[in-house]
Amino acid sequence: MKLLIAGATGLVGRHVLEKALHDERVRAVIAPGRQAAGIHPKLFSPVVDFDNLLVGESGWQVDAVICTLGTTMKKAGSKEAFYRVDHDYPLAVARLARKHGTSSFVLTSAAGADVSSRFFYYRVKGEVERELASMGFESLTFIRPGLIGGRRDEPRPLETSLGLVKKILHPLLPKSWRINPAEKIADRLLKAALASKAGTHVVTSEEMA
Ligand SMILES: NC(=O)c1ccc[n+]([C@@H]2O[C@H](COP(=O)([O-])OP(=O)(O)OC[C@H]3O[C@@H](n4cnc5c(N)ncnc54)[C@H](OP(=O)(O)O)[C@@H]3O)[C@@H](O)[C@H]2O)c1
Repeated sequence: MKLLIAGATGLVGRHVLEKALHDERVRAVIAPGRQAAGIHPKLFSPVVDFDNLLVGESGWQVDAVICTLGTTMKKAGSKEAFYRVDHDYPLAVARLARKHGTSSFVLTSAAGADVSSRFFYYRVKGEVERELASMGFESLTFIRPGLIGGRRDEPRPLETSLGLVKKILHPLLPKSWRINPAEKIADRLLKAALASKAGTHVVTSEEMA
């Protein structure tokens, strides 16, 4: 399989990339990003501008796409900038992939994704899911984690404190409230891409706890 990973430099994306590079069913990985994702004989990691993706971009003829792009409101600086990264970029990648004949798309969404949510974040995730569903992918999977666990390069105090509380209470918490380790999420993303089963599928946070 030839696989495209968007967001391969992120917490979840790095795990997906490592697993994909070590999986013999994956013969090539394209990992476009605003910075290169690494060096490996199977990897092509072009630096791109997601605001101006070129239709002729080499490497877009892939069997499946895994998208782990995303930011936080704090990092983005505004709702508009957040929307661009979490909504516009995944959909730009999806459109380009469809144009080049890709039939399978796997999205890292979020538990609570819902177009009619009271919360902006979950509304955006819901919108992305809805728009992807209208694009005609043969296989579409929404992986919906709750709080993602793992080591980050940048501080995220709110996520860290919530993660600590969840870690302490882990045995008492229902599965839907537990931390989803980035590695487990990556497993499910890659599994969905490799299987590329026809239809629309959802993997819940409970399944990754
Ligand atoms: N944090 C949570 O607990 C949580 C819970 C549920 C769902 N999610 C969702 O899960 C997904 C993956 O999360 P994560 O924690 O792995 O994300 P992450 O570590 O922040 O990585 C995000 C990826 O998106 C890229 N990106 C961010 N802003 C960009 C920009 N302006 N232009 C181009 N690329 C940009 C990053 O590239 P750089 O490396 O260049 O920055 C990185 O590759 C996200 O969609 C997030 O919303 C997160």
